[in-house]
Amino acid sequence: MTSTLTQQVEQAAPQPTHRVAVELAKAYRLLNHGPTVLVSAAHEGRRNVMAAAWNMPLDFNPPKVAVVIDKQTYTGALIEASGEFVLSVPPVALVHQVVAAGNQSGRDVDDKFEACGLRSAPASLVAAPLVEGCLAWLECRLLPEPAMAGRYDLFLAEVVAAWADPAVFSEGRWHFEHDAQRSLHHVAGGAFFATGEAVQA
Ligand SMILES: Cc1cc2nc3c(=O)[nH]c(=O)nc-3n(C[C@H](O)[C@H](O)[C@H](O)COP(=O)(O)O)c2cc1C
Repeated sequence: MTSTLTQQVEQAAPQPTHRVAVELAKAYRLLNHGPTVLVSAAHEGRRNVMAAAWNMPLDFNPPKVAVVIDKQTYTGALIEASGEFVLSVPPVALVHQVVAAGNQSGRDVDDKFEACGLRSAPASLVAAPLVEGCLAWLECRLLPEPAMAGRYDLFLAEVVAAWADPAVFSEGRWHFEHDAQRSLHHVAGGAFFATGEAVQA
């Protein structure tokens, strides 16, 4: 990559989001490279979104995921109440919105999507919304593990539907042509890496 992350964000033209269903057995590939995600949830007319770097695939088929969601978060409360959430994989172009979603609570604003400059779209099987402008989406139903959630803030879930923008993920592979479309990997304090070049062994 030749330009800085900030330049890429500034150069990023808003793209319409395209979504194509991802075969459930391949849904783990959407998270296998370790992207920071946006976690969204909804319950009784309220919706919310937060950033989460501590997520991972947990099983192939049926696909499962694990994500650490601090029990202080409003997103966590909505997930516990609804039993559902969505993981959306944001591109470099949304880095400022990701940081905004990770540094304020939905408890303190009317609508955190609006407060963070994010748009939502309905999911297919869960009430939690998808985040528009992302690269991939996993619709998840909570697997109740109250001891793990209580002790480690660790939420496990089954992926019931998965989607990706075919411009960056198709036939089970990521392929990034534009730097602003690459996924993000959080280090700390608002510093990220963008997903790099593919290496085939
Ligand atoms: C890049 C980034 C990654 C984060 N990763 C996590 C995470 O994996 N788990 C977590 O509980 N909080 C994480 N956070 C913090 C939450 O996003 C933050 O507490 C958020 O304000 C919670 O919002 P809410 O109360 O509206 O749900 C992260 C924050 C940032 C900026």
